[in-house]
Amino acid sequence: MVNIGLVERNRSEVCQVLNTLLADVFLLSTKTKNYHWNVTGLHFHDLHQLLGEQYAKLDLLIDQITERVQVLDNNALGTMMEFLSFTRLEEHPYYELSDRGMVEELCDDHETLIRALRKILERNADIYCDAGTTDLLTTVMQQHENMAWMLRSVLGQKSHLKQWVKNQEQTQRENGVEISVANVSSGNKGNS
Ligand SMILES: [Fe+2]
Repeated sequence: MVNIGLVERNRSEVCQVLNTLLADVFLLSTKTKNYHWNVTGLHFHDLHQLLGEQYAKLDLLIDQITERVQVLDNNALGTMMEFLSFTRLEEHPYYELSDRGMVEELCDDHETLIRALRKILERNADIYCDAGTTDLLTTVMQQHENMAWMLRSVLGQKSHLKQWVKNQEQTQRENGVEISVANVSSGNKGNS
């Protein structure tokens, strides 16, 4: 009988959360592999490489999640049917999507999992008591945040930066300054 300072009920509830996450990450890894294999277009090489790196990261997370379930003396899901019935994500075949559509789809999935993980970390008292799982879930969330950022960058969705540049230019116009942020950086180069 395992005795690691966590009661059985807590361990089993935490493992339900971990198994649902496992199903999500497994589906997202499969989806990322599918798009890595089947993406086409002018950006083929970059996307093929980026998605290859991302599924390798997801596969590492899968291993970490399943090992945590074993540490807590429970069983990890392991069949495709189980993954499909427990996941919060949906499959989307590559042939219905453009290369951009694939990146958007994956980015949405990462963001869905980030929101779910944030809620779990904030609200789940059983996980709050289990520092090891909290640490793992935080790591998993950070990895999804990192992958979502890279995918958003491919899509060129730097809306905050664009808005900031617009605001700076507006302020300069209001102050009667006839230079844009782009001119400022080239001007700086000239002065150096
Ligand atoms: Fe590959």
